[in-house]
Amino acid sequence: KDLYGPGRRNSAGVELGHEASLHALIAEIEAARSSGLVAATLIDGAPQPGAERPVLSPSNGATAVGRVREADEATADRAVDAAQRGFRDWERAPAAKRSAALEKAADLLEARRGLLLGLLQTEAGKTLDDAVAELREAVDFLRYYAAQARDLFGEGEVLPGPTGEDNRLLHRGRGVFLCISPWNFPLAIFLGQVSAALAAGNAVVAKPAEQTPLIAHEAVRMLHEAGVPGSALHLVTGDGRVGARLVAHRRIAGVAFTGSTEVARRINQTLAAKDGPIVPLIAETGGINAMIVDATALPEQVSDDVVMSAFRSAGQRCSALRLLCVQEDVADKMIDMIVGASRELKLGDPRDLSVQVGPVIDAEAKQRLEQHIAKLKGSARVHLAAEAPATGYFVGPHVFELKRQGDLAEEVFGPVLHVVRWKAGELGQVLDAIEASGYGLTLGVHSRIDGTIAEVVSRLDVGNCYVNRNMIGAVVGTQPFGGSGLSGTGPKAGGPNYLKRFAVEQTVTINT
Ligand code: SER
Repeated sequence: KDLYGPGRRNSAGVELGHEASLHALIAEIEAARSSGLVAATLIDGAPQPGAERPVLSPSNGATAVGRVREADEATADRAVDAAQRGFRDWERAPAAKRSAALEKAADLLEARRGLLLGLLQTEAGKTLDDAVAELREAVDFLRYYAAQARDLFGEGEVLPGPTGEDNRLLHRGRGVFLCISPWNFPLAIFLGQVSAALAAGNAVVAKPAEQTPLIAHEAVRMLHEAGVPGSALHLVTGDGRVGARLVAHRRIAGVAFTGSTEVARRINQTLAAKDGPIVPLIAETGGINAMIVDATALPEQVSDDVVMSAFRSAGQRCSALRLLCVQEDVADKMIDMIVGASRELKLGDPRDLSVQVGPVIDAEAKQRLEQHIAKLKGSARVHLAAEAPATGYFVGPHVFELKRQGDLAEEVFGPVLHVVRWKAGELGQVLDAIEASGYGLTLGVHSRIDGTIAEVVSRLDVGNCYVNRNMIGAVVGTQPFGGSGLSGTGPKAGGPNYLKRFAVEQTVTINT
């Protein structure tokens, strides 16, 4: 089997180092900029009324990126009811037709990259590098799941059996799939969930993060334009209360959720308490992602990879490095290099292309990070406490050395790196403590000793292990992404088994 999707290639993306293509891209972004966008709940393709509020840029609380009309609970219910009515037509459409619509949507996304990249910069505070990578990932998800679905949801798999009997295993949509997505990848994760659910023949109710409704709204409109009927894909804009209402609706047949472990647990409890069918949850949550560095690692490479893994995207990736575990013999040197490189990072509004670290998403995120930083300033060794611009929601990169590895007990979602040292012979204890956290999303290892690499990787139950490189930016079809334990339920996004979890199986035996 071609795990990459038969005949499919990941998109080429944009070469930002090439001056002419960078200028063309910037011209497209500027031409598409507008503050007049309005995101609304879309039921059967029709915008719904709702309480309106401005969507403000996290880089500068004064810049309105657009407006959002938020759904109330009755509107959320109507979206699920409409999806239930739309389900059968979409489920019965040939898989090839569904996939063709998703592929057309991928083309539209590429053609309208100026609008989408501009929104990623202003609504989500992404640097251009991050925005380009995210658009590429979104396009790749659409084409990857479309290609797989053509195969998986076609005529079904013919099974062996006695003469005179035709046995087939079919995969079919489950019903109304609820997709709840986060603000940190408001296009790629949003469309990854939605496209998988649609490719598998489900009707979808998509509930994007309240911080990033505009880009979700534009993406849904592109899917509709590409041929996904409004009756099969509905959008509900609103906050967590609306999300909770959707989860509790009796017509929901499956939920895909990416966000915090705590919210995933609450969703699971709601689903378990409902009457009716047992509803599966596909959850991708957080991690206290560690990197193990031993004395044989190459210092320059470690420094580059740590800075990128901990501070790119202002540390707001679920894959980001949170805990650096470095062998005592090389720790001073490594920490010096990392701190030196991190100090040079430029913070600011990512519309300035020289900016490397953008804002955190909102006032609440900033406040939570500042509280964590204040606490560590009193209890840990401070290696770096970088200043941040005063306007907008900025947090400068911080590097703290902890007294004990266990001092970091929960995910800190921002540009804060925690460091611990270990002595030769103590690696086992470091691994025990990582395991004891219960998380298992990403892991980095820097070592030139094959035995150490093998020991670390095989010992820990971590979804994505990166050896001698950075630990962010999983590529669709190449690094299927997702963790275990407190980090998620699986299956992995962008991997060969993802679509199946959005489907039910049906065996049909025909006596010929
Ligand atoms: N898929 C993203 C990454 O690999 C998740 O944060 O970085």
